[in-house]
Amino acid sequence: MDVSPEETVAKAIEDILAILDFDVKAKLDITGTKAALTAMVKEAQVLQFKMVLKDLNAHLQANGIDIATLEGSTSSFLGSVRFMQATALRDWNTNKGSQISPEKTVCEVGFNAGHSALLWLLAGASRVISFELGKHKYSQLANEWLSARFPGRLLVVMGDSLQTVPTFHTMFTHEKCDIVFVDGGHTSQQAWEDLTHFKELVDLGRNASNGHILLVDDTNMPGVGEAWAQAQAQGIAVEDGHVLSHNADVNDFPFSSDLRWIGNFVTESPGAIRWPWPGKLSYGRYLP
Ligand SMILES: C[S@@+](CC[C@H](N)C(=O)[O-])C[C@H]1O[C@@H](n2cnc3c(N)ncnc32)[C@H](O)[C@@H]1O
Repeated sequence: MDVSPEETVAKAIEDILAILDFDVKAKLDITGTKAALTAMVKEAQVLQFKMVLKDLNAHLQANGIDIATLEGSTSSFLGSVRFMQATALRDWNTNKGSQISPEKTVCEVGFNAGHSALLWLLAGASRVISFELGKHKYSQLANEWLSARFPGRLLVVMGDSLQTVPTFHTMFTHEKCDIVFVDGGHTSQQAWEDLTHFKELVDLGRNASNGHILLVDDTNMPGVGEAWAQAQAQGIAVEDGHVLSHNADVNDFPFSSDLRWIGNFVTESPGAIRWPWPGKLSYGRYLP
């Protein structure tokens, strides 16, 4: 799916109105119907992600992986999931009809168990390029599973991103990212280097409306927060906002509905265990 809920619903309503008489149209609550349907489509997108995520986790479990030991996943934060889906779809749509290629690339550092990569792929990314250290056995298992499910759309580059991102840029200078997601090493040095190296993979020549989006996960953590503050202080990037979550859910991935983003809910996982891990996902853009 690469069309936003708003656009999908507007088109559907347009089609329905086309078969009605004017007198009837005047009596309909079009605005209310649009809002209700849009909320439903957004919920469906989160549920779709949740369902496929369960299949992926089941595959890892079948291969001897204890899901409870996964290093971390943005999918534990419902607010982040909603925001990342909306970001992807908005970005895709922004480019519609422009001279720019409809191909959309997400570059991320931190593949881990493939959860964020799955989210991007379901949200319509034509390609996800993910840089991952590869210290966990499950990363390769998830890579194989996702690559089979989304053929030709996922490239996982194994190795230390401090080396692999600059090398990738040198080897493939034409490669540009539309969405950059920094979620790898969480020390300030690692996050700083990921932030600065990824800047080389963004085309800053584009005008603002067609530009990239930069997401930095876990900016509430000291190391990442420091690097993100430094990037802004040095004029490398700017924050446009952030999504805060109060808890992470670790049972029956995901979710917590603690964060009510645009007022919508996804049904809670029955018996989900909540952990008092807060999450902060910052978003913004690189400056030219
Ligand atoms: C929090 S997890 C990423 C979660 C993932 N983005 C998601 O939302 O599903 C962090 C990942 O970064 C990887 N990582 C840590 N240091 C790295 C480095 N120097 N280069 C590449 N990957 C690194 C870890 O191996 C781990 O898989």
